[in-house]
Amino acid sequence: MGGEQLPIVLAISGASAQPLAERALQLLLRAGEAVEMVTSRGAIGVWQAELGLRVPSEPEAQEIFWRQRTATTSGSLRCHRWNDQAAGIASGSYRTKGMVILPASMGTVGRIASGVATDLTERAADVHLKEGRPLVICPRETPWNLIHLRNLTALAEAGARIAPPVPAWYQQPKTLEDMVDFLVIRVFDVLGYDLGDLNRWQGPVPPRDRP
Ligand SMILES: Cc1cc2nc3c(=O)[nH]c(=O)nc-3n(C[C@H](O)[C@H](O)[C@H](O)COP(=O)(O)O)c2cc1C
Repeated sequence: MGGEQLPIVLAISGASAQPLAERALQLLLRAGEAVEMVTSRGAIGVWQAELGLRVPSEPEAQEIFWRQRTATTSGSLRCHRWNDQAAGIASGSYRTKGMVILPASMGTVGRIASGVATDLTERAADVHLKEGRPLVICPRETPWNLIHLRNLTALAEAGARIAPPVPAWYQQPKTLEDMVDFLVIRVFDVLGYDLGDLNRWQGPVPPRDRP
C-alpha cells in the first residue's frame, strides 16, 4: 500500500524502429520511472542487422548496455532475458502500471492475438490483457495485410490500445530527432505520461498572426 512505485514494462520486438525504443527508454529513465525491459530475440537480430550493434542477451549485461546507450543514471532499470517466463512480469500477481511494446513486430502481434506466449514479451502482454491493465502496442509494418489487420483488431477488442508510430507535420519537425520525440511522446500520451515538450496542435493560426 502507499508510496510503492509501480514499474512500466517496455518491450522491444524485432520491427524496424529501434531508435524509438531507445528514446522511449531514455525519456522514461530521465523521468525517474522504474522500467522493466524485455528485448525480444528478433529485436536483438534487428539491432545487429540495422545498427551493427550486439545487444547482450543476459540481463545484467543488458542493463549496462542500455544505461550506456541512454546515458542515464536516474530511474531504475531491470532487464529480462527474452525467454525468461519465470520473470515477475510473467505473472498477474506482479503489479505494474502497464506495458508498451515499441516497436511491435507482426510476429509478436500475431502470437499475442492468438494467445500463444512463446517468449516473455508475449506472456507479459497476455498477462496485461487478462489483468485488464494498460497494454499499448505500436505495430511497425507497411503495408498491413488482412491477417495483420485482423490480429490488431483482435488485440483492440481484447483491450489493447493500438498506437502505430505515425508521424505528423503539424508539429513542424526540423530534425529526425524532433520526429522521433513526437512519435515516442504520443505513444506514452496514451498512458497519461508527460515525457517531454511537444509542439502540440493548438488550432489553426488566425489569419492576423500568419507570417
Ligand atoms: C532488419 C530487419 C527489419 C525487420 N523489420 C520488421 C518490421 O518492421 N516489422 C515486422 O513485423 N517484422 C520485421 N522484421 C522481421 C522480424 O524481425 C521477425 O519476424 C522476427 O522473427 C520477429 O521476432 P519477434 O516478434 O520475436 O521480435 C525485420 C527483420 C529484420 C532482420
